[in-house]
Amino acid sequence: MSDRIRDKKVAVISGATGGLGSELCREFVRGGFEVVGLYLRNDAAAAELQRDLGAGAVLLRQDITVEDDWRGLEVLLKERSGSEFTVIANASAQFIPKPFHLLDPADFEELYRVNVVGAVRLLGKVLPRMIRGKRGRFVGVLSSAMEPPSKGFAAYAAAKSALRSLTRSISLEYGERGIRSFSVSPGFMETPLTDRWSDHLRASLDRKESREPSEVARRICELVNDPDAGLKGEDHRV
Ligand SMILES: NC(=O)c1ccc[n+]([C@@H]2O[C@H](COP(=O)([O-])OP(=O)(O)OC[C@H]3O[C@@H](n4cnc5c(N)ncnc54)[C@H](OP(=O)(O)O)[C@@H]3O)[C@@H](O)[C@H]2O)c1
Repeated sequence: MSDRIRDKKVAVISGATGGLGSELCREFVRGGFEVVGLYLRNDAAAAELQRDLGAGAVLLRQDITVEDDWRGLEVLLKERSGSEFTVIANASAQFIPKPFHLLDPADFEELYRVNVVGAVRLLGKVLPRMIRGKRGRFVGVLSSAMEPPSKGFAAYAAAKSALRSLTRSISLEYGERGIRSFSVSPGFMETPLTDRWSDHLRASLDRKESREPSEVARRICELVNDPDAGLKGEDHRV
């Protein structure tokens, strides 16, 4: 394999059209990565991001929770064979925080499906290439509202805890094969996810750890480039 291909870095980012995801795509392109950004339905946001990022990124509509038809991603991965791959499990279902007695089991299912099953399916597509290349990174995007859990976030915190556990398992099982895995826990960010929350709810939140999505994206990119990050499946407050 030529050095040119081995030197290529590819970041596969889910939730690419969202508040944090779009900043991650911009930051990783700036950082010299080729970006493959996945989104669910927001074609207009994807087209705008694609225009901004040009040849540095490919935006692909892919529901990460479904079993069938990942051909689009598989083709893109094959074209980038031999590159160093980073997977960022950033997508989450939207939700409105509410007390446990007002939550429905379906709220738990939906958040688990996108945050955990989606991350598992996505990583499953890329991991064999990481194993073959003896290198790669997996990053799970959690939340500062998970640990300690904030009131109203029971379903969200449960899903993020499972994703936390997944990042640790990946580190444990594949660390010796050169694959690093860690999670990041951002504070509150103004994004389409939180825009839907009422003023009353937003005022009640602990905003001490508020962040700009661009600031969080920059920190995640630094961590991905840090050779010491992800050796122990650790979590980083960002
Ligand atoms: N905002 C905050 O305060 C905050 C704080 C801490 C952590 N986080 C975490 O940061 C991450 C990004 O959050 P955000 O605020 O940027 O959310 P957001 O703006 O709502 O973006 C969510 C993204 O996920 C995509 N998505 C949802 N379901 C999907 C599916 N089944 N398949 C593929 N893509 C899917 C959406 O695609 P479409 O646009 O096409 O629908 C969108 O790109 C999440 O993991 C969230 O939990 C957020």
